[in-house]
Amino acid sequence: EKGGYEHFMLKEMYEQPKAIADTFSPRIKDNDIVIEELNMTDEEIKNIHKIMIVACGSASHTGMTSKYIFEGMARIPVEVDLASEFRYRNPIIEEGTLVIIISQSGETADSLAALREAKGKGAKVLGIVNVVGSSIAREADNVMYTWAGPEIAVATTKAYSCQLVALYLLAMKFARVREKITAEELKSYIEDLKRIPDQVELLLNNKNKIQKFANRYLAAREVFFIGRGIDYAISMEGSLKLKEISYIHSEAYAAGELKHGTISLIEEGTLVAAVLTQEELYQKMISNMREVSTRGAFVLAVTNEGNIEVERAADYVIYIPKTNKYFTNSLAIIPLQLFGYYIAVGRGCDVDKPRNLAKSVTVE
Ligand code: M6R
Repeated sequence: EKGGYEHFMLKEMYEQPKAIADTFSPRIKDNDIVIEELNMTDEEIKNIHKIMIVACGSASHTGMTSKYIFEGMARIPVEVDLASEFRYRNPIIEEGTLVIIISQSGETADSLAALREAKGKGAKVLGIVNVVGSSIAREADNVMYTWAGPEIAVATTKAYSCQLVALYLLAMKFARVREKITAEELKSYIEDLKRIPDQVELLLNNKNKIQKFANRYLAAREVFFIGRGIDYAISMEGSLKLKEISYIHSEAYAAGELKHGTISLIEEGTLVAAVLTQEELYQKMISNMREVSTRGAFVLAVTNEGNIEVERAADYVIYIPKTNKYFTNSLAIIPLQLFGYYIAVGRGCDVDKPRNLAKSVTVE
């Protein structure tokens, strides 16, 4: 059933190119985005004043990534909330608010409760869900499915990647309808999207290199992930992947926050993974990398092809192929997934079923 792979997690990582394509293909028609399930007229899309995204765990990280995209590309303000917080804080939901609940299983107790809370307050709720017919899919006003197929490993990989793609499609749709991007720009984003499956494949084929690197850090006590903007969102996911399956303590920080406390934790040999895919933030990130390396950190960088300058500030560099600035998380996550996976394998952990965790968290 693992199709020759050692673990479901590895199999599911390898299913990502297909899952990503299955999620976008039915929704691209003649250089336009068509999301029938959305059930929103152009007028309604123009009237969205705010988007609230509510989810748990990795799903909330895709929400964080999309905040930068909805705001940057479609110019719609976004709030991202953890479902367990949202449901108890008596959130303010005004007219023109679209609530998006993201969930792989569609059964996460807090996310379902948040959905009911939002509906009770009169919001229109869109579910981005993987499991067809699940509770969240049934109760949301509209459902946009991610076509990842069944995900067995507790650590999500392909569902995460498909959630990102579903959110890209929504942001592109909203941006175009609200005339924040031109038809030409949309066309070029669609071309970039179509290239992602092959680019992911290419990154997966680097696995031996990443395994070799991971084997040097099997005894690490802690790992820090840093990034800015969209790369901060991916740092959170990279950190969660590592800690949930390898039991190595790790934290994600917005790189600009280092100086406000975390940098005191850096010691000789501490591993810091820096993600820098946003050209306008390269220099800021390089300064942060220098700050930690002068304090003894070993810096692993994940950056865009061509950003050679990074080599002066990093000890080890993984390059991702070229895409536009909004889609980089889909590529940069691959080496981080592989890194978490190979650390866990090297430490002899139960990769698919880490201790104390369940695939779907149906209790609070
Ligand atoms: O099924 P859901 O997407 O609602 O699950 C949310 C989280 O429980 C889930 O993403 C969790 O954080 C994963 N173990 C992450 O790999």
